[in-house]
Order: sequence, then structure tokens, then C-alpha cells
Amino acid sequence: MQLRIVVLPGDGVGPEVIEQAVRVLREVANIHGHNFHLEEHPAGGDAIKRIGSPLPRATLDACLNADAVLLGAIGSPEFDQASPDKRPEAGLLLLRRELGGFANLRPINSYHALVGASPLRSEIVEGVDLLFVRELLGGLYFGEPRGRASLNGSSSAFNTMRYSVAEIERVARVAFEAAMKRRRKVTSIDKANVLETSQLWRQTVSRMASDYPQVDLDHLYVDAAAMHVITKPKRFDVILTENLFGDILSDEASVIAGSLGMLASATVGGTVDLYEPVHGSAPDIAGRNIANPLGAIASAAMLLRQTAQLEPEADDIEAAIGAVLDAGYRTTDIARGTDGRVVSTTEMGQLVTEAVAEFADMRHAYHAV
Ligand code: IPM
Ligand code: MN
Repeated sequence: MQLRIVVLPGDGVGPEVIEQAVRVLREVANIHGHNFHLEEHPAGGDAIKRIGSPLPRATLDACLNADAVLLGAIGSPEFDQASPDKRPEAGLLLLRRELGGFANLRPINSYHALVGASPLRSEIVEGVDLLFVRELLGGLYFGEPRGRASLNGSSSAFNTMRYSVAEIERVARVAFEAAMKRRRKVTSIDKANVLETSQLWRQTVSRMASDYPQVDLDHLYVDAAAMHVITKPKRFDVILTENLFGDILSDEASVIAGSLGMLASATVGGTVDLYEPVHGSAPDIAGRNIANPLGAIASAAMLLRQTAQLEPEADDIEAAIGAVLDAGYRTTDIARGTDGRVVSTTEMGQLVTEAVAEFADMRHAYHAV
């Protein structure tokens, strides 16, 4: 299998976690005889400093010509005072728009070994398996008009939440299709008691449910959902929601997994799929070799499964992550409530790489019998 992957390490802990994800990918390629062509490009604050743009033309062109993009993290406190269009995040939003993926998939699982790492009680988190389908190209992030205004010496700022039926339908379809392969339940989250966009969202999703008679659809207001996500997470299978609600709720739900550092994501539906850990640049811990690389590594697994249909390879990576956690290894963010051994970013990457090789060997031995 030939695969062209553009790697964007980005800012903060991005380069550290991506290095480990790349290491795992190289091991997989080695074991299975795949040819993964990995090409690094600058993006985000790093690219502003080096090239003067958060998404240089050469980076974007490389991404558009790739089979998939693997991104570390974007964002740096150096640019906190800059206007939205001059910040590193502008590069990420432009990249998302140019690649065209409108459905951002964020699975939240509770690994048995990490149940104690969550601040939530173990009976709440044990066995959680839910999938966020977050709309990624609409809503307040992209709605026009937006900007600042000044009238008679008083300044104001404004953003627009806008959704068309077509934008809602395309992401809802991804959620219904995902539910068909899972437990056949979709919960759509909105604020239809206040917002017109949410009313249109709810009507559109409800209408589409008739195409999926086997799927059980319910609706929740976002405020109630924020509570249910951490009090009764097992009531959810697929959560479908708009851009900003999905951004907020997925960070909240990460406490189920024990740490934001565990979460992976895939953005699909456009011309090139984009994979990124959910955690962001975490400047406070950058450069110290303590960041959790498992979200980035799990994103690489999603890449192999979704873009390349390399199911066994993806399974091996996920099994390797589980095995390393079962063996008691923890980065600092997930060390809470366990007596596991605390390891660095690079050690964690090494351990998962070794476990991937072991799982591949086992698979080989099994097929040889
Ligand atoms: C995320 C991040 C981004 C977002 C930021 C960095 C623009 O928080 O991927 O969740 O808001 O989408
Ligand atoms: Mn976020």
C-alpha cells in the first residue's frame, strides 16, 4: 500500500506528540511492507515565525496533494493579542476549509485501565463508548458577516451563526451512517428553544431520520447535554452537533477518557481527510517531553482505518495503546488514581511501537497455524 501523508507538527506539544505518531506509522509500514511517504511542513505559529503565514502556500499545496494530513496542534500564546485573522488558529481554520472535511469525528472511550484517572466515579465512566460528530465548516467559526464595528465612539463586535439545510444534511448523514455501524442511536444537540439555526437543525435532522428507520434519534438542548455527558455518558452512542457546541462538549467529555491527551479525531467528507489529536498545543508543558502522545498515535490509527482501509493495522495500534496502559505505563496527565509507572512522551511512543510489533507478530503466528 502506497500512502502519501503530509505531517504538520505545528505548535507547542504538537511536534513532540507527532514524532511519536510518526514513529508508530513507520513501524507499521516496516512490519507490513507498506510504503508510507511522510512529508513534514510548517503550519501555525511556527509557520508565521518562519514564513510569515500560518498556512504557507507550499504547505497547503502539499496537503491538497496528499492522501491524508496528520496535524499535531496549532496555537501559541505569543499571538494572544493578534486579531483572529493573524493568529495561528486562522491557519488551521483555513486548512480545514480548503481540505473540505465537514464532519469531525471524535470518539470518546473509557479504557478500563484508566477508569481511575477520571475525576468522575468509575461506575459512570466504565464502558463508555461514544462518538462525537461535530460539524466543522459552519456556524460561528465561519459565518459572515463577522467583525468589529464602532459607532459614536462605542465599539462592538459580532459573529454570525448560519447553517443551510444542505450543510446540516451532509453532516447528519455521517452521524446516521456511523450509528448504523454502532449501537444505532443518534442524539442531536442544539439550542432550538432560542436559536433559529438550531430550529432548522432539529427539523432537518428529524426529517432525515425517516431514511434511517433502524436508528433511534433523540434531541437534547446543549445545556442539558453538557450535564448528561458527564452524569450519564452511557446514554449516548453518536452525538451530532454544530461546530461550537461540539468544540465545547468534546473537551468536556474528555474527562471520561481520563485526559484530553487521549483523544483522537478524524475530519472527513472533503477532498483530503485530516487527522489531529483533540488536545491542542498545551504551551505550558511544551518542550518538556511529558505530553501524552496517545491522542496523536490514536489519530494515526484512525488515519489508517478511514483513509487507507488498513483495518488490522489500525486495530493493532489501538490494541497496543490498550496493552501499554494495562501494563501500567502512564504519562503524567493520566497518572492520577493509579500506581502505574510514569513515563515520558518518547518512552510512551517507544512502548506503543514495541507493542504494535508484538501484536503484528501474534497476528502472523495466528494466521500461520
Ligand atoms: C479544536 C480546537 C480548535 C477549534 C482551535 C484550535 C481553533 O479547539 O480542534 O477543538 O476550536 O476547533
Ligand atoms: Mn477545541
